[in-house]
Amino acid sequence: MTRVFSGIKPTGPVQLGNLLGALRHWVSDQDEAETIFCVVDLHALTVPQDPTELRSRTLELAQLLLAIGIDPNRSTLFVQSHVPEHTELSWILECTAAFGELRRMTQFKDKSTDAEFVSAGLFTYPALMAADILLYDTDRVPVGDDQRQHLELARDLAIRFNHRYGDTFVVPEPSIPKVGARVMDLQHPTRKMSKSDESPQGTILVLEDLASVAKKIKRAVTDTDTEVRFDMEAKPGVSNLLSILSACTGEAPEVIATRYSRYGDLKADCAEAVVETLRPIQDRYATYTADPTGTAAILALGAERARATATGVLARVRQNLGLLPAG
Ligand code: TYM
Repeated sequence: MTRVFSGIKPTGPVQLGNLLGALRHWVSDQDEAETIFCVVDLHALTVPQDPTELRSRTLELAQLLLAIGIDPNRSTLFVQSHVPEHTELSWILECTAAFGELRRMTQFKDKSTDAEFVSAGLFTYPALMAADILLYDTDRVPVGDDQRQHLELARDLAIRFNHRYGDTFVVPEPSIPKVGARVMDLQHPTRKMSKSDESPQGTILVLEDLASVAKKIKRAVTDTDTEVRFDMEAKPGVSNLLSILSACTGEAPEVIATRYSRYGDLKADCAEAVVETLRPIQDRYATYTADPTGTAAILALGAERARATATGVLARVRQNLGLLPAG
């Protein structure tokens, strides 16, 4: 059976891009693959975090994943720091990656430019991400478009390691959806929607008040002419709304576009579709937050299951590398 692995950072409120680009696909992957999903708290540490907030965000993110439809009976859901094998493999992969290769990562360049403090962890971030993936003999990794380069690096590291030390890792394939892989900011449609709070009016949060969600979509920046057409280059604002509506309904954005002659109608339907996508998630989220002990038990079982696989793969890595067995 195909094995799917993916992760999300507990660094800020989950936004519509996370949902449409990745999390929805995690849910549907459960029907056809063995699925492993991880709240990557160690990745969050690459930038300073408030300890109390990090702890509660990690738990709440797990609860939101459950509310979105991750089923603990069908998926392994766990927290990265509960499985220490991730950090051990990360070190090994740091020694497999070239400095120049990590320096070329666009996410590192974006996050380090103009930053007051750039941690070494921010630089080696992609090696830890590769470790997350390779530790589970992952076949397929469902992510949004912004993770494409990191996935390519994970593949390169697996191939290089296999070449040097013999067949050790499964080389994973990225799985990036055709629609929704790059949800853009509603106010600045040429930049992607993100968890950081730089553009509150341009960002839809999954747990946001639904009236506010509708208002933000109705106030989304469109383009200077009035034609409804799917063209990401020439009409980024309208095309973003068409993509969002398409991701919610499953109909192609080009087809949806033919039904509209006014921006206002498109915005109203897009707002309704997003609101109806978020409503059941918000309802279910309330039931999970009411039971933190239940969530903790799910995460403990998830870590135990994840570890059973991770230790086996790491033993293979240690053996092939030539590390002396203990005892
Ligand atoms: P993170 O936490 O930033 O985002 C989680 C997922 O959401 C996707 N995403 C988007 N998709 C479409 N439009 C957007 N505007 C948008 N914004 C975010 C991301 O592509 C991602 O799939 N490095 C990863 C976490 C990670 C990981 C892993 C992922 C760590 N280890 C192993 C896969 C496998 C990250 O920062 O995602």
